[in-house]
Amino acid sequence: MALVNDHYLKLAAGYLFPEIARRVAAFADANPAVAKEVIRCGIGDVTEPLPPAVIAAMHAGVEELAHRDTFRGYGPATGYDFVREAIAEGDFRSRGIAIAPDEVFLSDGSKPDASAFLEILAAGTPAEGGNRIAVCDPVYPVYVDNNVMQGNTGPALPGGGYEGLTYLPGTPGNGFVPEPPAQPVDVAYLCFPNNPTGAVITRPQLKRWVDWALANDALLCYDAAYESYVRDPALPRSVFEIPGADRCAVEFRSFSKNGGFTGVRGGYTVVPKAVEGRTRGGERVPLHRLWMRRWATCSNGVSWPVQRGIAALYTPEGVAQTKALVDFYMENARILRQACAARGLRVWGGEHAPYVWVACPGGMGSWDAFDVLLTKGRLVVTPGAGFGRHGEGFFRISAFNSRANVEEAVRRLAVLEGATR
Ligand code: MLT
Repeated sequence: MALVNDHYLKLAAGYLFPEIARRVAAFADANPAVAKEVIRCGIGDVTEPLPPAVIAAMHAGVEELAHRDTFRGYGPATGYDFVREAIAEGDFRSRGIAIAPDEVFLSDGSKPDASAFLEILAAGTPAEGGNRIAVCDPVYPVYVDNNVMQGNTGPALPGGGYEGLTYLPGTPGNGFVPEPPAQPVDVAYLCFPNNPTGAVITRPQLKRWVDWALANDALLCYDAAYESYVRDPALPRSVFEIPGADRCAVEFRSFSKNGGFTGVRGGYTVVPKAVEGRTRGGERVPLHRLWMRRWATCSNGVSWPVQRGIAALYTPEGVAQTKALVDFYMENARILRQACAARGLRVWGGEHAPYVWVACPGGMGSWDAFDVLLTKGRLVVTPGAGFGRHGEGFFRISAFNSRANVEEAVRRLAVLEGATR
């Protein structure tokens, strides 16, 4: 009989978003008369059509596959050169950041990349000589769950969280931007603009993280999936804006939330050639080499029509259309944030991020607020407790929706008035 990876059995609960979908489906089954009225502001899934420039390029890509002289079979596993070149130029060099096209690894998204990246790092708990790993709390669950699945943690702890992980609390007191840890850590995950809190990191704060990583020989896994929502030029959009980050950081990027690729799938990871890890024997090894090797063996890359669509995002039309899409969701976020504040709710995020983070009123728990909003308001949000212990007492509203739904969602928030635990 096949032995299973029993680290999976340590996972304390189902993955957050399927769990929410399950509860919403149960509500809809029990209340068929109102099922159609449910507004989903839970998972951050885009609602608007793809930019026209992307549609045209993907159509053209399909047409090319229809003819012998333009047909494409296997492409380079890490992406065609013209796509990597467009990304390096559009997202980095044009902003004064020296990233080479061959440091860009095209993929089907930042979630799969953040998950797969652990394949090139040693597995095991710190007690077994594995990496000491730090995550913010609240946190995008993908970073935690993958480390659990990989055997990098001990069991789930009774109060939440996993043994062996270093949790860095994000609270109203620190604006949900934790400082680097005092204790030694080998790998730290950062996500800014933040999922779930919508918090943004300032340049001085990010510089403290990069300086800390360089001083401690630590690796920063920086998730910049929401960078296109940053509108203040004083705020960093990439960790590589900070000098020295190209020696201690990798960055995950996504086309989901700017280009609307949640269904198409597309993203990339930047692994600078100067970033190193070490063997148990102390030899220093460039992560670029290992990540390249991993791609060559494990993947044949992203499909041709999708790569054509990705390249179109970097054309002048694609850039303008993408900005319009992001502007649309940002206006949704502004409406949601303002409405929460007007109702006397304490609210964060939603200014350079598509997520609005709200303190539950009247001492309610996150799942209690979720239940009230679902059953009385027919509004789905994400309970903060699903993002970690320090998410308890908050909920997240996603701005990814139609304008009409956002305006209706704002009215339905009224069901929280007078609701207490
Ligand atoms: C979220 O809602 O947190 C994200 O959409 C999930 C994801 O991107 O995987």
